[in-house]
This record gives sequence, C-alpha cells and structure tokens, in this order.
Amino acid sequence: MPVEAILVSGGAGYIGSHIARALKLAGFTPVVLDSLVKGNRWAGEKSGPFRHGDIGDAAFVGAVCDEFRPVAALHFAAFIEVGESVVKPDMYFYNNRDKANIFFKTIAAKGVDKIVFSSTAAVYGEPKEVPIRETAALKPINPYGQSKLEAEEAMRAVPGVNSVALRYFNVAGAAPEAGLGETHYPESHLIPRLVLPLIEAPAAILEALNLKCGFKLFGTDYPTRDGTAVRDYVHVLDLADAHILALRYLLGGGATNIFNLGSGEGYSVGEIVAATRKVLNRPDFAPGIAPRRAGDPATLIADSSKARRVLRWAPHRGIADMIASAAAWHRTQLYVDTVVNKAHAAIV
Ligand SMILES: NC(=O)c1ccc[n+]([C@@H]2O[C@H](COP(=O)([O-])OP(=O)(O)OC[C@H]3O[C@@H](n4cnc5c(N)ncnc54)[C@H](O)[C@@H]3O)[C@@H](O)[C@H]2O)c1
Repeated sequence: MPVEAILVSGGAGYIGSHIARALKLAGFTPVVLDSLVKGNRWAGEKSGPFRHGDIGDAAFVGAVCDEFRPVAALHFAAFIEVGESVVKPDMYFYNNRDKANIFFKTIAAKGVDKIVFSSTAAVYGEPKEVPIRETAALKPINPYGQSKLEAEEAMRAVPGVNSVALRYFNVAGAAPEAGLGETHYPESHLIPRLVLPLIEAPAAILEALNLKCGFKLFGTDYPTRDGTAVRDYVHVLDLADAHILALRYLLGGGATNIFNLGSGEGYSVGEIVAATRKVLNRPDFAPGIAPRRAGDPATLIADSSKARRVLRWAPHRGIADMIASAAAWHRTQLYVDTVVNKAHAAIV
C-alpha cells in the first residue's frame, strides 16, 4: 500500500515538529509546510519533505498539494503570543484566521477534505465551570483566542470538509532523544521559563528571553489551594498520540468533531515549582514573586473525557516527565545555538 502523505502546516514549530515525527513513526509521510516566520528549518526537515512557504499563498499551497497528493492536513501554523495579540490584533486575525481560511479553501479545492486543527483553551476565556467541557460558552478574552475560534469556524464552513478541532490546554515537554523540543522566541510558557535559569542556561539566552533576573511567579492571591494559578498540562508526546488518533478517526469516516485535550488534573504554579525543585534537585530554589497578570484566570482544567471515549486517547506522561524532558532539551547545543542565533538576528 502506498504511504499516505499528510500536510503539516507549521510543522517547523514546537508542536507541529513533534507531531510530524509521530506521523512518520505511525507510517505516514508528513509533508511540512512552514514560512519559518517562527519555526526552525532543522525541525521542519526532521521527519519528511519540507516546503518553505506561507499558508496564505494559495499558489504555493496548491503546488504542494499537486506534488504530494495529501489525504489530510494537520494545521498548526499560527501566531501564539497572547500578549502580542493584544498589542497587534490585526496581525493575529490576518495570520491565524484569514490566512488559515485561504489554506482550508485551497486544500479543499485540491481534494484534501480532512483537517485536524490545533485549537486552544483560549477559546473559552474565563469559564464559569471547571473542568471545562467542549459545550462550555465560547468567550475568548484576547485576540489570540478570538482569532483561533474564528479560524475553527472558518474551517467548519468549508463545504465537503470533515474536521476535528483539538483544543489544547497547556502543552509542555520535549523529545530530546529525537532532537526536538520547545524553541519559542520569545518564550512565555511556564516550564521553559522555570527550567532555563535553573539549568544555568547561557547568559545570552537568559537575557534574550528576559530571564536575567530569574523566574517570576505571577500572582499568589488567586482563590486556589496555594494562591497561585492552576492549569492543566499535557505532554507534547501525549498530544501527538491524540493527533494520530484524530487523523485515523477522520480517515475512518468520522464526522466533524471537537475535543478538549488536557490531563484532567490541575497543577498550581506553586506545585510546578515544587516538582521542578525535586526533578532538578534544587531544593533551595525560591522563585521571584510578581503581581497577577491581567486576564489570567485562576483555574483552567480540561474535561477531556470525550477524547478518551471517542478517540480512545489516554495521556500517560506526568509533570516530572515534562520538566525533565524540557530540561534535557534546553541543555542541548541545538537549542542553545538556535536561540542565540535568533537573539543575534534580532539585534542586528
Ligand atoms: N504551545 C501551546 O501550549 C499551545 C496551546 C494551545 C494551542 N496551541 C496551538 O498549537 C499550534 C502550534 O503552536 P506551537 O507552540 O507549536 O507554536 P510555534 O510558534 O512553535 O509553531 C507555529 C509554526 O507556524 C509557523 N507559521 C506561523 N504562521 C505561518 C504562516 N502564515 N504560514 C506558514 N507557517 C506559519 C511558524 O513559523 C511556526 O513554525 C498553534 O496553532 C497554537 O495556536 C499551542
């Protein structure tokens, strides 16, 4: 049987590159399409053919479809910084919604009628009930969340396409043994920001990621068990399993659907700090404290029972694994060189 090609937009980025690898391991050919506006060529080329271009360029996307005849697409390409989206909303709507819409319509016209979409818990905003179910009210509180929600809706409006929107909660961890890991620039996620100063990352990296004064914990007065914000963390390799299952669901004739992806367990920032002390053997570590950030809800936990029931997905990796694999990745020369080069390029 010929190997089926799967388009992976944004596959040179953090999550897309791990999932391209999972596709390869599952016997598919991942065809990565990425503008490298954020991602890295080495990540895009890791698991299959890589084509450099923009999802909003219909001629480019159409040519990649003609070349590889993919049977489905996984769509990761997007901008992901909530804070930046507040300052530059037009840039977020243009990239995440309008270009995504061009991408969906172009691939559908080429016969690619199955799409798995990277959505986010940000579509729910500040939920009234926790754990959050897929039926909860959709009330994003920032342009990032709104742009992702409108892209989801645009995808479902394309005639003849069956799609799965996977709404992730907090994604963490890495696959350092495969030469892959979280390489965001800037980096706003909790675990890398905690880990990098503790593993004594090079000064150039700490400076570039605004970590020179160490890690700061935002808010200790939330109505949670220890006063810090509670989030639901899922390992990027467990997320990869969910994508393969969602893809197989669509290839098997499954109807358009939406699934939350999280562990179903909440960890407070204080608990993540405690786990990091243990995993990295730094019992002395005491984080800096800063006021709450505007728009950060107290508690976000997924109800992912629907993904467990319908897709038969089960996350296996815990917080210690996410911290340890992230630390191992951030110690690699590839990570260090990539971020130092990006910092240098940003200065000159
Ligand atoms: N990281 C998380 O914790 C998280 C949580 C929820 C949802 N998501 C979603 O997952 C997806 C991937 O996130 P990530 O953390 O891997 O981000 P990332 O920035 O590492 O990867 C995104 C990739 O998309 C590419 N890209 C962006 N715009 C493009 C365009 N117009 N054309 C072609 N390529 C383009 C970038 O170059 C980059 O390689 C995003 O859609 C995001 O909304 C991420």
